Amino acid sequence: MAEKLEFKLEFEVFQQEELNAQDLGLLKKAREATNTSYAPYSGFNVGAALLLEDGTIISGSNQENAAYPSGMCAERTALFFAGANYMGKKILSIAIAARHSDSSLYMNVAPCGSCRQAMLEYENLQNLPVRILMQNADNKIFISPSVENILPIKFTSINLQR
Ligand code: THU
Repeated sequence: MAEKLEFKLEFEVFQQEELNAQDLGLLKKAREATNTSYAPYSGFNVGAALLLEDGTIISGSNQENAAYPSGMCAERTALFFAGANYMGKKILSIAIAARHSDSSLYMNVAPCGSCRQAMLEYENLQNLPVRILMQNADNKIFISPSVENILPIKFTSINLQR
């Protein structure tokens, strides 16, 4: 009989009214960032906002391209900006929101696999969990306590060691 491994993912689910002021502020920045999205091909506007340890908030949005794979997700736009301009500053939380271009209603959103991988790199580097706040439809907000929680079978620098 093959051994069976099970992984448990943990989320907290909040109504918007239940969020603390800092989390709500960050989520609002992610929502605002959907307005700076350049998404003429998918029509799916995504915004991300990062909270750094010194209180700085960095926003990003998805930036698409006529050569489709050359575009970039909102999360990595914000993450790489933080890496390039705030090196060494820890990232406490990342909020994500998305809507269709022709609507003000927010849709369910969760970071894609490539963004999870990029987030994991920084989480490991800073040795501190990065919380992920995901805006869902129905005004619910899902909070993951870390990146690892949503990428449990992971590839990291440890895998590169001989
Ligand atoms: N997208 C993001 O920016 N973040 C996500 O978490 C999911 C997908 C973007 C990529 C592309 O511009 C559009 O949404 C449709 O996939």
